[in-house]
Amino acid sequence: MAHPLEQLRDDALREVDSALDEKALDVVRVGYLGRNGSISAWGEQMKTLDNEERPVIGKLLNEVRNAVTAAIEERTGKFRSQKESEALAGLDVSLPGTPHEYGALHPLHQMHERGIQIFRRMGFALADGPDIEDEWHCFDALNTPPEHPARNEQDTFYLSDGRLLRTHTSTVQIRAMESVPPPLRVIASGAAYRRDEVDATHSAQFHQIEGLYVDENVSVADLKGELEFFLRELFGSETEVQFRPHYFPFTEPSLEVYVRSKALKRGEQWIEVAGCGMVHPAVFEAVNKARGDKVYDPEKWSGYAFGLGMDRLAMILFDIPDIRLFAQNDLRFLKQFA
Ligand code: PHE
Repeated sequence: MAHPLEQLRDDALREVDSALDEKALDVVRVGYLGRNGSISAWGEQMKTLDNEERPVIGKLLNEVRNAVTAAIEERTGKFRSQKESEALAGLDVSLPGTPHEYGALHPLHQMHERGIQIFRRMGFALADGPDIEDEWHCFDALNTPPEHPARNEQDTFYLSDGRLLRTHTSTVQIRAMESVPPPLRVIASGAAYRRDEVDATHSAQFHQIEGLYVDENVSVADLKGELEFFLRELFGSETEVQFRPHYFPFTEPSLEVYVRSKALKRGEQWIEVAGCGMVHPAVFEAVNKARGDKVYDPEKWSGYAFGLGMDRLAMILFDIPDIRLFAQNDLRFLKQFA
């Protein structure tokens, strides 16, 4: 007659064989081999056996336990590989894989980084301001009166609450001076917006690098030297730089900056790249009013400011014929800068 342990084993093996999934298999495992399982219970019973019987039944118990454990493992393996092949059934391994392409920085971003790198060497710190501005930072504080054409609906994107998309990055001049006393040397790079007719050289969104330096005895010579150095670092030492008189409400005198270089593809042609000038005393006064003090005393401090057209610089540097290419996201264009 079979020992009850052998009977237990046969029952267990049968149940393992008929379990339909891993969950059912686990129920079988717990029932026989779990802490309160019927095979495990024999471990306790061993203590009641006499010395002769104990090694024989002990051996049998081990064999039974091993046999049932092995059967469960085998069936678990079967369930798992079955699941795997079901998951793989719909997969055609002969199909080509999905290639992962390397990205690259956008040419405007590359321009931004090159610009900042050069100005950093000249001691400029990075400043920042929001694209959505109030009229005060964009115009009033920059000595630009309400009747100035820049404030016209036709030229500027207004929001319904009276705020606007900044028409230039000169807003950051004001924000920087509001937050720190002089002396001050900052640049800010970012987007500006105007209702321009879009063509090869005009876009409703363009980008500028703004600069502001305030200290004692700053002169036009400092401004010219600084910008000439920057443009020669960027475009090469043979670059010619020309300053032409101009008008901005927030600088006096005001100048426009042109470059030309035989080394550049555009060759002989003078290209306008920036507006600049000496900070107007009215701008310092406006900042003082906002700060509620007099630290930007125009009698004591002077300064220069400039706004470089970043898209224009990148177009010259990378020989890009059309400003619209920057925003079209055409990979054939972008890949050329990888
Ligand atoms: N904000 C001017 C523009 O957008 C450029 C400028 C900046 C001029 C700083 C003078 C000083 O045209």
